[in-house]
Amino acid sequence: MLADQTLQEDVSESYITDAVYFSRYNTHLNPLNMHYVTVLNGFAAGALPASFSYCDLGCGDGTTLNTLASLFPEASFLGIDFNKEHITRARSIAIEAALGNVEYRQVDFSQLDQLELPEFDFIVCYGTFSWINPVLQGMIMAFAGHHLAPGGKFAVHYAASPGKVQIDPLWHFLRVMTEEEGGEVDSLEKARRGVQLLEDMRTKGALFFRQNPVALNREKRLVQQDINYVAHETLTEWQALNHGEIASALDKYGLTFSGSLLLYENHLELIMPDRFLDLVRGAPSVTARETLKDFITNQGLRSDTFTRKESGMDGNISLRLGDLCFAPAGFDTRLPPVHRFPSSMNVVMGPPAQKLVDILDQQPCTYHALTSHGDLSGFSRDDIHKALTFCVAAGYVMPVKSGAVYAETSPNTSPGAGHRLIEATLNESFQPQQILDLPSCTLGQVYRVGSLMGLFLKGMLLDGEKEPIEYALAQISKEGFPITFPQTTINDNAELMELIGKNYRQFNAVVLPRLVRCGVVM
Ligand SMILES: C[S@@+](CC[C@H](N)C(=O)[O-])C[C@H]1O[C@@H](n2cnc3c(N)ncnc32)[C@H](O)[C@@H]1O
Repeated sequence: MLADQTLQEDVSESYITDAVYFSRYNTHLNPLNMHYVTVLNGFAAGALPASFSYCDLGCGDGTTLNTLASLFPEASFLGIDFNKEHITRARSIAIEAALGNVEYRQVDFSQLDQLELPEFDFIVCYGTFSWINPVLQGMIMAFAGHHLAPGGKFAVHYAASPGKVQIDPLWHFLRVMTEEEGGEVDSLEKARRGVQLLEDMRTKGALFFRQNPVALNREKRLVQQDINYVAHETLTEWQALNHGEIASALDKYGLTFSGSLLLYENHLELIMPDRFLDLVRGAPSVTARETLKDFITNQGLRSDTFTRKESGMDGNISLRLGDLCFAPAGFDTRLPPVHRFPSSMNVVMGPPAQKLVDILDQQPCTYHALTSHGDLSGFSRDDIHKALTFCVAAGYVMPVKSGAVYAETSPNTSPGAGHRLIEATLNESFQPQQILDLPSCTLGQVYRVGSLMGLFLKGMLLDGEKEPIEYALAQISKEGFPITFPQTTINDNAELMELIGKNYRQFNAVVLPRLVRCGVVM
């Protein structure tokens, strides 16, 4: 027993606990998206039920889990993390947002098998699996194996081989060079020193960088990144993993690979040139296919879903997809003629795609309703299917809650359902670079706005004294020039007035009406 405990302490000590990791809402982990992936790939059918259970292993500060809890009030959520500060922050937001359906436990993964927990419909482990000891990886897979309900989905994100193999020596160097005899130096300081040392190595022309271009590019980005992020990324026991090894370990628990959380990666033609397609389609096994894909695309990060497959799943994609409901994902519903995917593949969006988005802009629709819609009558089922799945893959359309209906577009001034989380989000102090994730309980998805839109909304919903545009101006004027926004730098008052005016017109014409229709604002 003592030997076991020592082992457990050792394996957990390989991950840092003295630096906070600031998370962003992760849309890939939305259960509607995970469900869509598994339906698309033949591992589930029909709409996502309103009530389900969801467990996040390594939940960090709970940003994603709290947002999901506000989006799905009938579901229940559990977050697990061993970092005390993460759990404290996660709980305090949950309390501030009055979320009664989310619970957090400060627990080490090494103790997972001792927790008395029920089965879950979703288990996720994001940004964590490659960064922990292999013993803990085994415990996480065993937990998913034992705690996934029939039809349940397990999502695991990890640094992958071959794309990230050059990174291993980089982080190894950083860890060894910053190890302190007395352990007096904290992780943030170690990360700072490590980054400086690597920068020194690169600029002085260390041969490693010259012969390993992936490591070179990674190092160049490292100096610009937030030091808390760098500490969590580099100072842990780190490995690039092979999909095949994970798939084979999970297979022993009856879990089967069911697709990628990155939606476009589920379509071979969107991730690789035509010349490879026959070879990949003819792969003798799923693992061989995924290995070929990873090699052809030099995949460096994977976001895999695994499913406890239920028997008797319908082979017909139209029947499986039929009851799933969709809506436009952005504010602007005009599609570009060509979409460029992250794989650098260019795809012509075409008339059925634009028509389909226009229909969804009137009201969220099921796949069945789309295939029988008069405006799409000139197109074949195949055309409609391809247009829909490519629009989802490109991020123009998203799966939404079953039966979702838009609200009327006359706004008064109160936040919609999930409003406590919206208030908490808007109340964060203004930062020009900030992105705000506003939950739409109507759709079960999030709308993302920039800091200026956030200020207009805050002025409108929470201030009431001034016009939103005056409120925004008063807040921003407290900043000194220059002010750097994500796409522009503002140097004086005239430029600021112009930017605010332009954004306010966009806010009134496009952003606010959509937020009202989707229930973010009532
Ligand atoms: C890089 S963060 C990812 C957080 C979040 N999932 C995200 O994607 O934003 C990794 C998380 O795993 C947690 N973690 C690492 N080792 C752990 C262990 N042995 N037990 C519990 N949590 C652990 C860390 O505290 C941290 O919050």
